[in-house]
Formats: sequence, C-alpha cells, structure tokens
Amino acid sequence: MSTQRVLILGAKGTLGGQLMKLFPEAVGWDREEIDVLDFPALRAKVAELRPAPDAVINCVAFNDVDGAEDRPEAAMALNAEFPGRLAQFAAELNVPLVHYSTNYVFDGVKGEYEETDRPAPLSVYGRSKQRGEQLIAESRSRSYIVRTAVLFGPKGASDLSKKSFVDLMLDLSAKRDTIQAVSDEINSITYAPDLAAATRDLVHAAPAPGIYHVANSGGVSWFDFAQEIFRIAGRKVTVLPVPSTHFPRKATRPAKAILLNTKLPPQRPWQAALAEFLASL
Ligand SMILES: NC(=O)c1ccc[n+]([C@@H]2O[C@H](COP(=O)([O-])OP(=O)(O)OC[C@H]3O[C@@H](n4cnc5c(N)ncnc54)[C@H](OP(=O)(O)O)[C@@H]3O)[C@@H](O)[C@H]2O)c1
Repeated sequence: MSTQRVLILGAKGTLGGQLMKLFPEAVGWDREEIDVLDFPALRAKVAELRPAPDAVINCVAFNDVDGAEDRPEAAMALNAEFPGRLAQFAAELNVPLVHYSTNYVFDGVKGEYEETDRPAPLSVYGRSKQRGEQLIAESRSRSYIVRTAVLFGPKGASDLSKKSFVDLMLDLSAKRDTIQAVSDEINSITYAPDLAAATRDLVHAAPAPGIYHVANSGGVSWFDFAQEIFRIAGRKVTVLPVPSTHFPRKATRPAKAILLNTKLPPQRPWQAALAEFLASL
C-alpha cells in the first residue's frame, strides 16, 4: 500500500518526532493542536482534513510509570479508553491504526516474550497499556499494536518530552566519576529512529493486523546499558552494579522483559543502534 497522508498523534514526542521525518506528507498533531481526550473535538478536526488520512499512528500516552500509580484514572483514560475509541473511529474511517504498547505488559518471569505470550502486568501503567491492547482488539479496526521498550534517541520537540536514559547518563557523567546502575532489571531497548522506520515499513507492507514486537535485538540491564554508553562515548566513569531495591520506586517493573520479534524483519543489535546515536550527538 502506498500511504500518502498519515495522521500522527503525539507528533512532538520522542517517537512522533522521528515518524514525522519519515512520513513527509504526514499531518502531525500534539497537545498544542488538540487534547485527544476531547474526543468530539478530535473527530471534528479529523473530518476537516483534506485529503482524509489513509492511516492513523498514535504516539500519545501516559508514560510516567511511577506517576501512574498515583493517577490510575488518568493513565487508563489516555492509555486504554482513548486508544479504544480511536480504534473504533479508525474502523469508521476504514483506515489502519498503529498504536504502541510496552514490554511492561509482561511480569518478567519468563524473561523473553513472543507476541503471543500472555500479558500479566505488574503496574498500573502496564495494566493501562494492556487494557488499551484489549479495547483495540475488540474494535473492528485494522489495527497494529506495536509493543516496544525503553526508547532512546533525539529528544522530542515537546518541552515535557522525557530525557532518555542515554541523555541522563551523559548529563550525570559531566558531574560524577562514579555512577550506580541497576543490574537486576533487564529490558529490550529501542532506538526511536529504528522504531519509526519499522513503523513506516509496517504501514507500507500492510501485513495482517495484530500484535507486533519491535525493539533492537538483545536484552540489557541498566548497568550494561550505562557501561556501553560511557565506553562508546569515551567517558571515564566507573559504573557500580546495584540491585533494583537500591532505588525504591512506586511501580514494580518486570525483572526481565525482552521482546522477541518473530513476525517482522529483525532489528539490528542495540549496541549498533546506540553507537549510531552517540556518533550523531
Ligand atoms: N518512552 C519509552 O521508553 C516507551 C517504552 C515502551 C513503550 N512506549 C510507548 O511508545 C509510544 C511513544 O512513546 P514516546 O516516548 O515517544 O512518548 P512521548 O515522548 O511522551 O510523546 C507523547 C506525546 O503525546 C503528547 N500528549 C500527551 N497527552 C496528550 C493529550 N491529551 N493530547 C494531545 N497530545 C498529548 C505529549 O505531550 P506532552 O509532552 O506535552 O505531554 C507528547 O508530545 C507510547 O505509546 C508509549 O507508551 C514508550
């Protein structure tokens, strides 16, 4: 399918910013253009688009994993109810929807997860993202749920766009020569430009709707991630491994949640993606 006119929601976020670069004809909206929770306003604004969009990509999310423990309604509204309504709307428009979920829908016991593995989230954030997956699946839309994990890459244009772990480590290395990093939590990690390119390929190839996993290949602890950042960047920082109990947080994270991609072309290893990002800074 040659998609010409994609509507990207959350266009100023980490991922949305990269998607805007890869879909030159895209219309991109973020909080300044529309509060997506005002669904009637969103519908009206979409109806005004000429030509009408031929795919919708939703990057809007409540991404504050610890904050969601205190604000479960807000997390549910943005991560579950909104994507559910958006999927129904996409079905009415007869266009595909791409939506993103997370490796935090898993409990981390199995460690490596295929697309068909059963979610068992440990946190409000994970539950809200899983509910979003369910509501989309219950709609009659042609939807792609792309699970991803730990994004890094250029910061999004939004002032509130979170700094990635890479930026945090580089900032810390300017102030300290020793850093503690958690060694008993292992995730997939994902270079946002790679995820954007995989999304573009998915939209163009239009395979069967369903759940897809997209992350750079390999699993990595925060400790290994930090060490590799400093090694590649040539920063002389000693990284000390600590257990996750050393940094108590409100939300429980899975101990090991690596996303196995069994459906789409494989992504490059995370080390190669990290090296490219650091070289670009
Ligand atoms: N980042 C990660 O490590 C990670 C890991 C796993 C999965 N994911 C998933 O990947 C997707 C993209 O994540 P991301 O990190 O690129 O997100 P992001 O940087 O937080 O971008 C989301 C964008 O949506 C905007 N937004 C939030 N609420 C809105 C509303 N009510 N109306 C309109 N716009 C609104 C945000 O604006 P403000 O900045 O002003 O709030 C922001 O520009 C999400 O579904 C996320 O759950 C991300």
